[in-house]
Amino acid sequence: MSETLIDIRNVNRIYRDTNGNPLYALKEINLKIRRGEFLTIVGPSGCGKTTLLRLIAGLDRPQSGSLTIDGAEITEPSHERGYIFQQPTLFPWATVHDNVAAGLKARGIYKEQKGRVQEYIDMIGLGGFEKSYPHEISGGMAQRVAIIRALINEPKVLLLDEPLGALDAFKRIELQALLLDVWKKTGAAMTMVTHDVDEAISLSSRIVIMTPRPGEIVDIVDIKLGKVRDRNSEDFISLRKKILEALHLVLSRPQPEYAI
Ligand SMILES: Nc1ncnc2c1ncn2[C@@H]1O[C@H](COP(=O)(O)OP(=O)(O)O)[C@@H](O)[C@H]1O
Ligand SMILES: [Mg+2]
Repeated sequence: MSETLIDIRNVNRIYRDTNGNPLYALKEINLKIRRGEFLTIVGPSGCGKTTLLRLIAGLDRPQSGSLTIDGAEITEPSHERGYIFQQPTLFPWATVHDNVAAGLKARGIYKEQKGRVQEYIDMIGLGGFEKSYPHEISGGMAQRVAIIRALINEPKVLLLDEPLGALDAFKRIELQALLLDVWKKTGAAMTMVTHDVDEAISLSSRIVIMTPRPGEIVDIVDIKLGKVRDRNSEDFISLRKKILEALHLVLSRPQPEYAI
């Protein structure tokens, strides 16, 4: 099996602003997402991070270029590409158990695989909350449920759009550890958007840095730290400096009003 899971080639996604001028949300994006890797995407607001995730999810299509997964063109959403939004999007009328089961039901495999629902609920430490409804649990708990609702379908990649953005600092760190844990257990590739540079360094094997207008990839940084990452270690601090500098460079770049 090839190392490349998702191959993004020369992708352009162009919107129009209110005056009808073209706005390059993504310009000539080339990126290979590797099988099983933890990739994070950082960049200023409006640089096309969500647009890119939506294209990979198959929720949107580019004007030109191609996106493939294991060689097959991505044309529509699929359970092989799980998607997690910034705010948890659980079904409010269904219990934790039924929210997780919904993924299996949608594929018609609930009967054979029901036992796995409990297994996944236990994996994220929510045993005992199976019968709770979304309004009865915290935002962090709801986001855990959203994560396993996608993971129970054994996706090849889990796409996470600032999944911890709405949580406080303590909950964030707790959920970062949980994400690492499920990543190791499931072996799914993770592609996560975050605005938190420390979070990106703590979790990922590679960090993609993007710039807005036009939305382009300006750098991809390899993170060669060990499994346990000390935020106060010299290597961590120098990586943080490097990435923040790259981001500041992005921000100080002259921003043309329009791309063309
Ligand atoms: N549906 C849309 N119509 C017009 N412009 C859009 C639309 N979606 C996104 N954009 C524009 O595309 C750019 C990238 O947006 P987005 O991918 O949401 O950025 P990010 O997630 O990095 O903040 C922004 O300038 C945004 O205003
Ligand atoms: Mg976004």
